[in-house]
Amino acid sequence: MPGLLITFEGGEGAGKTTQIARIGDALESQGLSVLRTREPGGTPSAEALRTLVKSPPSALSPMAEALVFAAARADHVANVIKPALDKGFVVLCDRFIDSTRAYQSAGGGLAMDDILTLEHLSCGDLKPDLTIIFDQPIEDGLARAHQRGPQDSFEARDLAYHQRLRQAFLDIAAQEPDRCQVIDASLEVAAVSEHILAGLRPALQTLTPEGQA
Ligand SMILES: Nc1ncnc2c1ncn2[C@@H]1O[C@H](COP(=O)(O)OP(=O)(O)OP(=O)(O)O)[C@@H](O)[C@H]1O
Ligand SMILES: [Mg+2]
Repeated sequence: MPGLLITFEGGEGAGKTTQIARIGDALESQGLSVLRTREPGGTPSAEALRTLVKSPPSALSPMAEALVFAAARADHVANVIKPALDKGFVVLCDRFIDSTRAYQSAGGGLAMDDILTLEHLSCGDLKPDLTIIFDQPIEDGLARAHQRGPQDSFEARDLAYHQRLRQAFLDIAAQEPDRCQVIDASLEVAAVSEHILAGLRPALQTLTPEGQA
């Protein structure tokens, strides 16, 4: 596909949403067509599933949660991400497959084979071209998220759970070093943006002319 899919991953309050806005602006000022989107979400139906999974009326089992994420992702990939990549957009996605791997496997205890099956069913052959993994001590991220507003059902889980997530993201980065770049999320906002933009440069050079606005 002519576009680029860049995913932003990592624990709670690490700065993913903050950086998607800034990196999107920086890429647009370079003349690129950018789509900012998020998971779960990105379409009206997937956003409704996001509301459900973040504040479920009754507790969802890890498998039920994984299936909701997969349904939301299938809709998002087919209706938003793939069409944008076809048009040559740089798609910046706030969480994607690695959050499911980390939260539902390391966090929720599901078998990785099952997660990968759901990944294949929801994404087909689509894989991120590049994944930025935001890493910082979990207490710092949770404190940032706490300052931002009330906790959701994920932020409220215990420290051991968040520690497993952090390690899971680092393990994914170690297993797929060509796709994943780990960023020190404890740096100040502008420094994090600079690191990300430097890491994106080689991938941006592969963009075909359709990606230029
Ligand atoms: N590098 C940074 N230094 C200090 N504060 C930051 C930094 N990046 C973001 N913040 C602040 O931390 C809070 C969480 O940031 P943000 O919402 O971008 O994180 P997130 O990774 O998207 O979190 P979540 O996983 O909960 O969606 C916000 O109040 C934001 O302004
Ligand atoms: Mg966010």
